[in-house]
Amino acid sequence: MTQIGRFVPILLMFFWVFGCQSSKLLTEKAGPLAQYGMVVSASPLASEIGKNILQQGGNAIDAAVAVQFALAVAYPRAGNIGGGGFAVIRDSTGKVSTLDFRERASRKAKPDMYLDKDGNIIPRLSLEGHLASGVPGSVAGMVALHESGGLLPWAQVLQPAIDLAREGFQLTTIQAGIFNRFQDIFMEVNGHEIPFYKKGGWKASDRIQLPDLANTLERISYDKNKGFYAGRTAELLVREMESGGGLIDYLDLENYRAEWRQPIKMEYDKYTIYSMPPPSSGGVVLAQILEALKEYPLSQYKHNSPDYVHLLTEIEKRAYADRATYLGDPDFEEVPTDMLYSKAYVQERMKDINLTHPSPSTSIKEGMVDVIESVETTHFSVVDRWNNAVAITTTINSYFGSKTWVDGAGFFLNNEMDDFSAKPGIPNQFGLIGNEINGIEPQKRMLSSMTPTIIEHKGKLYMVVGSPGGSTIITSVLQTILNCVEFDMTMQQAVDAKRFHHQWLPDVIICEDDTFSEEDKNELIRRGFTIQERGQIGMVDAILIWPNNQLEGGADRHRGDSTAEGY
Ligand code: GLY
Repeated sequence: MTQIGRFVPILLMFFWVFGCQSSKLLTEKAGPLAQYGMVVSASPLASEIGKNILQQGGNAIDAAVAVQFALAVAYPRAGNIGGGGFAVIRDSTGKVSTLDFRERASRKAKPDMYLDKDGNIIPRLSLEGHLASGVPGSVAGMVALHESGGLLPWAQVLQPAIDLAREGFQLTTIQAGIFNRFQDIFMEVNGHEIPFYKKGGWKASDRIQLPDLANTLERISYDKNKGFYAGRTAELLVREMESGGGLIDYLDLENYRAEWRQPIKMEYDKYTIYSMPPPSSGGVVLAQILEALKEYPLSQYKHNSPDYVHLLTEIEKRAYADRATYLGDPDFEEVPTDMLYSKAYVQERMKDINLTHPSPSTSIKEGMVDVIESVETTHFSVVDRWNNAVAITTTINSYFGSKTWVDGAGFFLNNEMDDFSAKPGIPNQFGLIGNEINGIEPQKRMLSSMTPTIIEHKGKLYMVVGSPGGSTIITSVLQTILNCVEFDMTMQQAVDAKRFHHQWLPDVIICEDDTFSEEDKNELIRRGFTIQERGQIGMVDAILIWPNNQLEGGADRHRGDSTAEGY
């Protein structure tokens, strides 16, 4: 045996011990791991239902459809059949598609429908009550998604949500608290008690049964789209609209279609990122920011350090300014989607970034400011044993949408009309200003920030990710991606890490409590930034596929009830 030969067993032993220890260390920092399938959502019940569907032989599409309907029952503040959303799907061959089931304005919607005779915005009209709703897209979206590649029968995939609605479910502490905050407004908007109203208030472990919703889901189970957009459900929905001066009518419902769209695709180092195109701004803004970041050796920055925050913030200001000016529904407006994240454009756009002194937002672009969406919405991620993956972000906009309860049909309607700019150039109720490209038109889709995203690493499935949080969705998704890709975090660490956000206007960095040390905060203030702390930003529910093919669930368990269920 040569000298070197004698060392080989010792070297092998060293690598084995070191390898085991580092993977043990990694495992300790990781979220739940699974071999065959993983579902991560905002509701423990919905995640469990999704996992069961996978175990019954369903694929990621079947599980995603089951989770969407389960969230409509057990997570009513954002889960829905009365709203809409977006799906990014990557099949096991690597084919990626994106599905738009965003709500649309009624045929009868008018640009000035939220203005009084003097042209002033009528407070809360686009937020609460019957006039605030767009035509729901979730059911059409789920039908289209399931028909595109579900393995299990449609009825089997819906059954768990039907059972959940009929048998009822127990409230978590967080849910009981949120329901209690909305008791008065449920009564105010509806003028009668609804199942989520309880005299004396809710407490954890209280049980809620939703028999009307179970019947509606059964109609959808028998008749697919016709179970919602026609027949008894449509009748109840239109009757509800008529009772409160809403616009949605039978023809609006009959005309609704989900649309397959071309994904946003961009390369970042050895990663390929697929996300949602307009009418979501999510994919374009995410891609523009990532394109800009390519110029910088990010992994050499300290995570959440002043230099890192400064850089991201300056890029975000410019990307969000572009969002406000250039993005809207591509079926109605010229949207320069590809240009906005092309290398040449981004280099030109970002060239005045100064890493010593921040640019005041007013100097970046004058004038029109974007609408900021409410922080409610929900995201879930699914991967199956074949490595099919689905990322869905779905919403009724605010907590419980418009608060309008479709009596007899058992669900809330969205207040997505507030995502349009009600009056270009005039601040909305959030103190922000809207723009022409996102103005109200009949049958148009309102601009969104939802950013369901799927990432490949060297051609192999790597991450499924998304978040709620209105305009903070995009930066929550961005930071989660960077946490893994640049800072080597596990999925769980990336999800748990503190977040910050800048959206051009207002010219302020918002951050979660305790994101920065006193010293770092002072340094950012010294450079000229304004910092505002806020309880929490986003709720990321994501999956990371490890090189050994294990699936790591990253549930945002500290910011809500999110749960990862794998097997
Ligand atoms: N309503 C939230 C969004 O669409 O971004």
